[in-house]
Amino acid sequence: MELVDTHAHIDMLEGYAEYYIEQAAENNVSRIIIPGIEPEGFAPVVEIAERFKNIFFELGVFPSEAEKWSDECLELITELARHPKCVGIGEIGLDYYWDKSFVDKQKEVFIKQIEIANRLKLPITVHDREAHNDTLEIIDKYNKSSQIVFHCFSGDIDFMKKVVERGYYIAIGGIVTFKKADTLKKVASEVPLDRLLLETDAPYLAPVPYRGKENQPAYIKYTAEEIAKLRGISLEEIAEVTTRNAEKVFNI
Ligand code: NI
Repeated sequence: MELVDTHAHIDMLEGYAEYYIEQAAENNVSRIIIPGIEPEGFAPVVEIAERFKNIFFELGVFPSEAEKWSDECLELITELARHPKCVGIGEIGLDYYWDKSFVDKQKEVFIKQIEIANRLKLPITVHDREAHNDTLEIIDKYNKSSQIVFHCFSGDIDFMKKVVERGYYIAIGGIVTFKKADTLKKVASEVPLDRLLLETDAPYLAPVPYRGKENQPAYIKYTAEEIAKLRGISLEEIAEVTTRNAEKVFNI
């Protein structure tokens, strides 16, 4: 059995990357993608991906960091994206939960990065928090050719359907194991299997039984188990289909 963690901030974990990657391997996590969130953080992310064969990275300026955007960011992302381990642009998008005071800037930076992804023919990992309609509106208007992954999906069934009918992907993390996550459990049961990806978003959002603790890629199995249970299929089947999807989207 093989699992892919499509979204883990290994650079933000407390201990050494070696430890977490070893733990992950022992728990059948064969490949991990580390997203970028701000220009100063790109170097450590690239460095980890260079050191480990099965680690890949993405580059992006996170919505809450949008005010840091400059022309140099564009140049830096364009240059680093040529790296053979760069598999996408992310995480980028809109976050109205964190701060709504610079929504226009968030939108501008999101659009600019969608254009980079299109130009470089890379998929996009989208961060959308309490901004579903605006996020989709911008994607509909500006995305020409990139595949899109809605990371840490937090919409309802109707929004999931809108994402899926556009041919995009739904990435589900540890929240689905939380007792009261009814909406996400419903999404996880109904999302077409060929649109489903798994992620941890480590160090955040650890699944039960580690809820509240530091998350790590090895824990992705709890999320996979929960989704398998919800759908009444085997863990192996979830692992196989999500791994195949990850390979397809990120070309890994
Ligand atoms: Ni993240």
